[in-house]
Amino acid sequence: MCGIVGYIGKADAATMLINGLRRLEYRGYDSAGVAVLDDDRIVIAKAPGKVAALSERARAEWPAERFSRTTIGIAHTRWATHGPPTEVNAHPHLDQSGEVALVHNGIIENYRSLRARLVGKGHHFYSETDTEVLAHLIGDCDKGNLFQAVCDALHQVEGTFGIAVLSAREPGKIITARRGSPIVIGIGDGETIIASDAAAILAHTQRVIYLDDNDIAIVTADSVDIRDLHNIPVTREIAELGLDAAAAEKGGFEHFMLKEIHEQPDSLANAIRGRLDFNLGSSVLAGMGTSPRELAELGRVVLIGCGTSLHAGLVGEYAFEDLADVHAEVQQAAEFRYRNPILGSRDLVVAISQSGETADTLAAVREANQKGAFVMSLCNVVGSTIARETGRGVYLHAGPEISVASTKAFTCQVVVLLMMALKLGRGRRFSREEGIRFAREIEMVPALVGRMIRQNARIADIAEGYAHNEHAFFIGRGPMYPVALEGALKLKEISYIHAEGYHAAELKHGPIALLVKGTPVIAIACDIPGKDKTLGNIEECRARGARILGIVTEGDQEAAECMDDFITVPRCHPLVATIPAVVALQLFAYHVARIRGCEIDQPRNLAKSVTVE
Ligand code: AGP
Repeated sequence: MCGIVGYIGKADAATMLINGLRRLEYRGYDSAGVAVLDDDRIVIAKAPGKVAALSERARAEWPAERFSRTTIGIAHTRWATHGPPTEVNAHPHLDQSGEVALVHNGIIENYRSLRARLVGKGHHFYSETDTEVLAHLIGDCDKGNLFQAVCDALHQVEGTFGIAVLSAREPGKIITARRGSPIVIGIGDGETIIASDAAAILAHTQRVIYLDDNDIAIVTADSVDIRDLHNIPVTREIAELGLDAAAAEKGGFEHFMLKEIHEQPDSLANAIRGRLDFNLGSSVLAGMGTSPRELAELGRVVLIGCGTSLHAGLVGEYAFEDLADVHAEVQQAAEFRYRNPILGSRDLVVAISQSGETADTLAAVREANQKGAFVMSLCNVVGSTIARETGRGVYLHAGPEISVASTKAFTCQVVVLLMMALKLGRGRRFSREEGIRFAREIEMVPALVGRMIRQNARIADIAEGYAHNEHAFFIGRGPMYPVALEGALKLKEISYIHAEGYHAAELKHGPIALLVKGTPVIAIACDIPGKDKTLGNIEECRARGARILGIVTEGDQEAAECMDDFITVPRCHPLVATIPAVVALQLFAYHVARIRGCEIDQPRNLAKSVTVE
């Protein structure tokens, strides 16, 4: 996710700001920038890549005394959402006059209409970002009072923001505000620090104020004046951080993986935001670049990926066939690229990749392009190689995923695939009413995942009983079969337990020979078609002494009674239920690995992005 730092107080603001960005580096980003007020003039340095590149750029472009004399500025690390990670798209952005600078986290959903209105008033834009539009809007609203200008601009904004604004016309203050994207203000001695994350504040102070949604603050070196957007004063308590630097990077969580599991209600909300059309009962995925006619004429959907992304594709396979009445198949990317696939212009190939850099998936994209298929991607990293080479597709907006074990990317991949299947379905067989009903199911996903995360402590307790095994089986049917595969992958890659996922019906065709007394079988027995058969498979396992951990639907007493332990998931559409079910398995795997004392965020032998064959 992007990072914001604002500083006002002592000399050498530029160094304070760049050091603050360094403490946000763990969040992942692709470009950075800094703006300071020097002789009541805004000067900016930006650079793609790491903060080190920005520091070099600023020191090369700025005279040394600028570092020593400036006392106020804003800075930003960007995780690209609108427009690739280039210098021109990096923040801070200026208004039309060049006297107002802005850094922004979040997504301005109505930026296109705002931009068109401002262009009509003679504004000129340089970047592809929504943020530059907000900067121009603030400048356009500025009638001599920066605070009021920011209020007036934010009243016109739809979407989320965490911002810091600097003006050459009103030196000595920074305006900051938030809606849906965190802002924390550090109260120092003769200095004040604004940040999107406490990690950037720790070096200065432990005393902080957290803004709430629709708070806006006028910040000086020794004062913080908080109002609401109607200029009514607001009181916010000063809190003690009580964090060291390492803990702050993980938001107080012990590992990035646990932080990212807990981020899923927000990341899923970001993946869904602005993409469901309840009027048409469809989804809005402009990046697919397809007309209804092209979608209606598709003969087949081929989903390719590796690892967790492959498992997401397997859920997508069920979704496309169930919802869109189109033949769908999944292929492991390495296999696809070497098997001389039979493809044509009526085939849609969807390359699924969190990093957008996986070598086998990239090669499969190139092979699909060679064969004349209709190719698009599902990536999390904007401007990644696979995203650029397919030229069309859908970004996850999950935010950077630091932990090697993929969690929030997987659930966002699934939810985007469900929206793609809805879009295809409405172009082929789904009625408007059916489409609206399914869109409502998708809309509920962030809340369903929030309910799962509230079971974290209970799942941690359950994990105690399974942490000392060396083998485990995961079983499921229908769309829960790929969930079983993903649950097994999570457990094996972070706890080093030999875990295997099987279709529930497959055990008796050989693997059941491995069951002995106490062997853990994690059975996904949600109340979906085929559940009774799965309960039968569970009995086969129990008869051989296995210990059963069930994932069951809330209120399904019959299923719960078949289990030695169980975790409940909310009742919802079978395809949607895959998401809360996998969150249960993510938490289970995490706690088993934690109990076993494993290195969770960087497991042995693994890399976050496999850029070699
Ligand atoms: C999943 O937890 C692993 N990190 C791995 O299987 C990963 O999903 C796979 O390497 C694909 O990566 P990608 O999504 O970036 O292409």
